[in-house]
Amino acid sequence: MAHYLIFLGSTRTSRPPSPARLGERVAKACERLLSSLPHTTAEIIDPLTLNLSDPFKPHFAYAKADAPSDLAELADKISDADGYVMVSPEYNHSISPALSHLLNHFGASLFAFKPSAIVTYSMGQWGGVRASVAMRSFLSELGCLPVSAMVHIPKSQEALNEDGHFAEDQERWERYVGRTLGQLMWWAEAAANYKSHVDPTKVSPAFKTTPSQRNAPGSKNS
Ligand SMILES: Cc1cc2nc3c(=O)[nH]c(=O)nc-3n(C[C@H](O)[C@H](O)[C@H](O)COP(=O)(O)O)c2cc1C
Repeated sequence: MAHYLIFLGSTRTSRPPSPARLGERVAKACERLLSSLPHTTAEIIDPLTLNLSDPFKPHFAYAKADAPSDLAELADKISDADGYVMVSPEYNHSISPALSHLLNHFGASLFAFKPSAIVTYSMGQWGGVRASVAMRSFLSELGCLPVSAMVHIPKSQEALNEDGHFAEDQERWERYVGRTLGQLMWWAEAAANYKSHVDPTKVSPAFKTTPSQRNAPGSKNS
């Protein structure tokens, strides 16, 4: 059985623009379609249900026993999951701040060596494609490399009903989304199987102390 987390990249309960939090529809569609695949379970991670710190204090900045319980529980879920679906609206031509803020709370080693899928949406005609460009480098740095196929949902307020079903062309939409989810599943299964042969942390140990651990030899402070 493979388990996936779907990160819902919006906390926008206000309006305009209306309707608020279209991301709920997109995340529900992903949950429905992923759960319909064989040996697959999926869970939506909703930032509105978490008490994200202000000022910013990520999970890895706490001593292990002191991390707030909701952050500690989510860190365990991220570590246990086989792959991720990252659902983002386009805000100012980039990844939604709600999604980057949520993900920034967790260290890359929790996500590493597992794949992700990029799903973007917007109320306009581009479906969040510009956000997806920013997401590729963000997710690569987290270590959960995004699969090549992506989902973009333009005019998502018309394309999706509140329950996460497509208003029209259901079959074509599901085939379109299914291509990306299929790639996610393939890579997730391959990564999980290979992990039992080769421990990735032995090949590429996690950086645990300072960012300068990434530096090339010869750089200052390397
Ligand atoms: C601050 C802000 C910036 C936005 N920037 C863009 C944008 O660059 N491109 C776009 O297509 N839509 C943009 N929109 C419209 C969003 O696509 C639309 O509001 C969408 O519903 C947001 O997702 P949400 O309802 O899940 O928060 C923006 C909306 C907000 C609130």
